[in-house]
Amino acid sequence: MATFTQFPAESIEVISNAKSVAVLTGAGISAESGVPTFRGEEGLWKNHRAEELATPEAFARNPELVWQWYDWRRGLVAKTRPNPGHTALADLEKLYDDFTLITQNVDGHHRLAGSLDPVEMHGNIWYTRCLTDGDIRENRDTPLPEIPPECGKCGGLLRPHIVWFGESLDESVLSRVFNTSSRADLFFVIGTSGVVQPAASLAGMAKNNGATVIEINLEPTPLTSLADYTILGKAGEVLPPLIEQIPEK
Ligand code: OAD
Repeated sequence: MATFTQFPAESIEVISNAKSVAVLTGAGISAESGVPTFRGEEGLWKNHRAEELATPEAFARNPELVWQWYDWRRGLVAKTRPNPGHTALADLEKLYDDFTLITQNVDGHHRLAGSLDPVEMHGNIWYTRCLTDGDIRENRDTPLPEIPPECGKCGGLLRPHIVWFGESLDESVLSRVFNTSSRADLFFVIGTSGVVQPAASLAGMAKNNGATVIEINLEPTPLTSLADYTILGKAGEVLPPLIEQIPEK
């Protein structure tokens, strides 16, 4: 474990020689776009923390409150665009035959930046799902109606298509993230506080299978002790110059 403010030469060599690359991103990669992170002051909404709102119990107790929190977040995301960190990851993908981008973010910015097939572990804020029949629909309305609308097919209540605390991830998503993390020889973990499972365990899984782990964050996290290199800086400033240093194969 070592911390740096830019990529040391030996890490550039590891990155250049990697064959199988996996990247896990969190809210920090979208922070420079203006999307608030979850933990920290700006993550609060009307004095509620994300952990109090992003649960099935919160939605059952007060669907309007949870729905309106997501509407607020959608309104914020709608005003933002992907930043140079997102674009650099889309460019990085082009350099490898085996590359998987895993994100905990629900804002859809990786796709907008050109990443081809990001695994959106926690869902996508621009989709709704019917509580009754499970029907998933894209919905880009901002603002949303203040009360969760009914499913057009069955009349059930619509909820955001997000994985909430206490809910299981989709089996196919889980097997994809576990497979890619365990076969990676290089694993980047970018802009996440590393406290929400199972995402937080992926870097350790990669490491146990022999990968070099590189973390990019503003500050040390619980994952820093297992990372081979931690680059302390903004993803949108650290990633673009890195891409220029990796020779095309
Ligand atoms: P957090 O808000 O917990 O952490 C954001 C991390 O990004 C922190 O470690 C910051 O230091 C770092 N950071 C901020 N700006 C950065 C920048 N410009 N460059 C690099 N790093 C930066 O967000 P997550 O770890 O993504 O789940 O949170 C994980 C999950 O908890 C979320 O997906 C969400 C939340 O509750 C659900 O909604 C299910």
